[in-house]
Amino acid sequence: MGAYIITGGRSLCGEISVQGSKNSSLPILASTLLNAGKNAIKDVPDLRDIKVMTDILNNLGAKATKKGNLLEVDSSGVDNWEVPEDMMREMRSSIVLMGALLGRFKKVRVSYPGGCEIGPRPIDLHLKGLALMGVVLKEKHGFIYAEAPVLKGADIHLDFPSVGATENLMMAGVLAEGKTIIRNAAKEPEIVDLQNFLNRMGAQIKGAGTDTIKINGCASCELKAVDDYTVIPDRIAAGTYLVAAAITRGQVTLKNVVREHMEPILAKLREMGCKLECGEDYIYLKADTDLKSLDSLRTLPYPGFPTDMQAPMMALLSTAEGTSILTETVFENRFKHAEELRRMGANITINGNTAIIKGVRKLTGAMVEAKDLRAGAALVVAALAAEGKTTVIGSGHVERGYEKLEENLLSIGAEIVKKD
Ligand code: EPZ
Repeated sequence: MGAYIITGGRSLCGEISVQGSKNSSLPILASTLLNAGKNAIKDVPDLRDIKVMTDILNNLGAKATKKGNLLEVDSSGVDNWEVPEDMMREMRSSIVLMGALLGRFKKVRVSYPGGCEIGPRPIDLHLKGLALMGVVLKEKHGFIYAEAPVLKGADIHLDFPSVGATENLMMAGVLAEGKTIIRNAAKEPEIVDLQNFLNRMGAQIKGAGTDTIKINGCASCELKAVDDYTVIPDRIAAGTYLVAAAITRGQVTLKNVVREHMEPILAKLREMGCKLECGEDYIYLKADTDLKSLDSLRTLPYPGFPTDMQAPMMALLSTAEGTSILTETVFENRFKHAEELRRMGANITINGNTAIIKGVRKLTGAMVEAKDLRAGAALVVAALAAEGKTTVIGSGHVERGYEKLEENLLSIGAEIVKKD
């Protein structure tokens, strides 16, 4: 599974160009199944999850090839609507293939994505919305068989603004007959990116970024391939690098960022005492004083504080002066990093979905284990500030979301080595 060996205690200082968004690239890649041409998508990060998605597309008959951060997908030869179970298990977010395959073939077979470290990952909202669109769902032997003799537009209200369900229903709506409305839709920037990509294909979608998305479906339309699209920067990778600079009381300039996407994170770093300067396409952070705790930090759907930044922020708050109260409202089981941070001397008490974090003067290096992607990121940033050496076991988890992590951290002064 690999490990990072980190010697902490140095203030980071330098500049990082942020990777393209993993959580934008994945649904956009799935949506290439809706057309039958040569798509070219730029700034796709070099990550295991992207590799899994391209393997799935190739398994379905597409020709997906990656040249650096350019991903080309020729979806003309797609002739299969059954996603291999082992590949589904590799990556839960492959569930967004449902909407795209239903749009193209009016049928799809997927397996349940299965729970993971951060919670059971149900898909009831996806399935309820698809059923309203005329999709007939059958489950047997762990597979979901979905078929829509006629895929029709529907007026759907999501019980929760689920990112994946919103993406699935957008993709299913594009080639459905009539209008689809998604109410209480997710408003994340990645939803807007998907809308922009689909509209470049010839879809007619508006409202992404608000809680109501309207799609004028066109059952007889031939959508065209998109031969030049650049995904948005990864706001979570960007936020993690800001936390890495802050926890080491250093400074960092980030390039390739969209300030608006970062505002929920910037507001909390500013509240802790970080100095921030933002330009058109850069964000500069300096943390040269002691940082203050946060009376309350609650993760919420966008534009609230992102759940994917909860773990790195717990690490940062562990070194701030005072007591912070952190509440995770999005996932049921996303505090696995707390026990590992305690091994490094953090003072964290978990009470249900709330963590009480009492800042300590210094963290100390230890042997710790990454249990999921963002928990691993939290342990890496904690190790950068800890006294002595830390071994973070499970670097494979972290590499799912962070492109060139050790290279980027080395470039701003960290002492980090990856061992396979
Ligand atoms: C996306 O996951 C992201 N993944 C997650 O990032 C992110 O944490 C999450 O959105 C929330 O922002 C990708 O985009 C690939 P949800 P998704 O559906 O779509 C419940 C990372 O670290 N729910 O918005 O799976 C669910 O259990 C990953 O990059 C249902 O109850 O998230 C959870 O509690 C982790 N029924 C909440 O909604 C459903 O049918 C949010 O889930 C669907 C979801």
